[in-house]
Amino acid sequence: MKTTFKIFTLILVFTTFLFAQNKQIEKKIDDLLKQMTIEEKIGQLTQYSGDRSATGPVTFKGDHKELIKAGKIGSMLNVLGTNYTRQYQEIAMQSRLKIPLLFGQDVIHGYKTTFPIPLAEAASWDLEAIEKAARIAAIEASASGIHWTFAPMVDIARDPRWGRVMEGAGEDTYLGSRIAYARVKGFQGNGLGNIDAIMACAKHFAAYGAAVGGRDYNSVDMSERQLWETYLPPFKAAVDAGAATFMNSFNDINGIPATGNKYIQHDILKGKWKFDGFIVSDWGSIREMIEHGYSKDLSEATKQAILSGNDMDMESSAYRNSLAELVKNKQVPMNIVDEAVRRILRKKFELGLFDDPYKFSNPERERKELNNPEHREFAREIAKKSIVLLKNEKQTLPISRNVKNIAMIGPMAKVTKDNHGFWSVTIPELNYDKFVVSQFDGVKNHLGKDTNLLYAKGCDIDCKSNEGFAEAVETAKKADVVILTVGEAWNQSGEAKSRSNIHLPGMQEELIKAVKATGKPVVVLINAGRPLVFDWTADNADAILYTWWLGTEAGNAIADVIFGDYNPSGKLPMTFPRSEGQIPIYYNHFNTGRPAKDDKNITYRSAYLDLSITPKFEFGYGLSYTTFQYSDLKLDKKKMEMTDKIEVSLNVTNTGKYEGEEVVQLYLRDKVASVVRPVKELKDFQKIKLNAGETKTIKFTINKEKLSFYNAQLNWIAEAGEFDLMIGSSSADVRLKDTFELVNLNYIH
Ligand code: GLC
Repeated sequence: MKTTFKIFTLILVFTTFLFAQNKQIEKKIDDLLKQMTIEEKIGQLTQYSGDRSATGPVTFKGDHKELIKAGKIGSMLNVLGTNYTRQYQEIAMQSRLKIPLLFGQDVIHGYKTTFPIPLAEAASWDLEAIEKAARIAAIEASASGIHWTFAPMVDIARDPRWGRVMEGAGEDTYLGSRIAYARVKGFQGNGLGNIDAIMACAKHFAAYGAAVGGRDYNSVDMSERQLWETYLPPFKAAVDAGAATFMNSFNDINGIPATGNKYIQHDILKGKWKFDGFIVSDWGSIREMIEHGYSKDLSEATKQAILSGNDMDMESSAYRNSLAELVKNKQVPMNIVDEAVRRILRKKFELGLFDDPYKFSNPERERKELNNPEHREFAREIAKKSIVLLKNEKQTLPISRNVKNIAMIGPMAKVTKDNHGFWSVTIPELNYDKFVVSQFDGVKNHLGKDTNLLYAKGCDIDCKSNEGFAEAVETAKKADVVILTVGEAWNQSGEAKSRSNIHLPGMQEELIKAVKATGKPVVVLINAGRPLVFDWTADNADAILYTWWLGTEAGNAIADVIFGDYNPSGKLPMTFPRSEGQIPIYYNHFNTGRPAKDDKNITYRSAYLDLSITPKFEFGYGLSYTTFQYSDLKLDKKKMEMTDKIEVSLNVTNTGKYEGEEVVQLYLRDKVASVVRPVKELKDFQKIKLNAGETKTIKFTINKEKLSFYNAQLNWIAEAGEFDLMIGSSSADVRLKDTFELVNLNYIH
């Protein structure tokens, strides 16, 4: 009793304190707003990029410092480092009201220490590790003067032609929502105001990943239902996690550009979801509404953006040039401007920047945090967990350390920056070649003096020439086993990197064929920011590891897996198509009235005449050096009322000889409903570790939330009826099945 009372009292005190603190901040904002001129207000809504590295088409070549001194810029991006940020902040402190600048940066998967790209981290299905990676990124970035990261990118993406799939968590809404929540929590830590907390920014709002044809920036057109069911939930998860900011997206949604879209920004995000942070436009996206044909000029674009809920203007110079006039001639009410300014000032107060504008610019802390060995150690940890074993014939992997001769071949063997991927922060003093562990060095670090490590490049990454193939083949012939590492260069996935052909670049697959022809066992490492097509390799290589872009410790992590120090546990967060012609292909599709059940009977069936109905590798797929057996599925009831729940339990046994981790996946199918439902949907998962021979009992709970969906009227409801329950090692590898019924006593009279 006493403990409960104590806890209750503590919560009450803490809530009261928070409430009082918030009221105090609102009072300070009121006082500040009263002093601000319209120009100074608009200054808070204006953001520009520093001139060291642009992450978009630069629109303003003027002198930012003069504008900052005049209080006409409130935030900068691509200004990083304690020294550089201090310089800019000192200028802001010369302005009339001394309102501190916000420094934003794309800290997408690490700052100086980089982690696997987000899509690779998603393949770890390890929410704790994903949160910790964001946490370390925040510690390093905040030590380097950064207040705000433009992450997590939470766009659901089903089209691997879209280069930005690398930044997100893949195709599944449930997994994507869990990961969105974890990343926001990681970046914001114990809350704004803490020295190592930075503002998260859920982006790109909304549905940017559904660009037609997977062509970046292209239009998005979908039903309301699909928007709510598939694309919005990860953003809602970000709001639930307390995301401080949102970034809207370049695309039009059902004909209205996101940046000027009142429905998503004002009605949903700020209205229904009660989001109290602020929305920043994407780079120049306000101005781009002219190009969209939605605004006749910059003034109209400004009006549409501010009235629809876009608070801050990144790099359009729209608000700076047009907003004062619009307020003056009463086209934009002052209270709308004040509301946008209030949202931004609120975050500056919460970060503590008014108390100490230089609190994040401490060179001593920067030196310590940016060279923290524990960060690298964790980078290696999460990189190992992100690797997916796609194939392992004849137990080719793990390679024994006693092997006499190993050949490491391929264009990715000795590169460094390409392990970082597209969104690595260009820190001035960072020298990738010194800081990133190449795959060749990682393997070399693992070998004793008795093993001979041979090397041949074979070709460059673009692999337009086979001149180096002969040397590669000769090198392979001298080896007992070949590690052949291929894939995409750092800039072949990422923003504005959509590709119509997502095969391995150039003649890389020919290189694999030539090396395979030697008859030596070949382990292929595929490095990429997206699912690639590699049909022949998938059918002919002895073993394949999908190694994505793994960051700073790529080489060591890959070697840990190759030599069995770590048993790979990754599972694909996206479907891998057999060919570009099969796109879009994703696991949680509707059944249709003529579903194809196999590759034989496809007449009058939803299938291609010239291609299998199955993907090359399915969502949730990933092998291990050991095997797992699933058994003893139990449901504590087979009928569940709306307010009830079903307890599910099963056993998983490690039936092999290696310790290993397994991602146990729970899929449900609503068999009949008022709108058609997917053939299966991921509704829960658990990643477990089992020693050889060990059995663990896993439990899941089915509640109404897991059975709910948006009906035709966009109500979030569950409907009585029968459900299939599937427990699997992937979305296709279903090991245990059962059915249960949801009953609704209110309907039964
Ligand atoms: C880019 C990207 C966005 C990024 C912003 C700032 O165009 O679309 O994700 O955060 O500009 O670099």
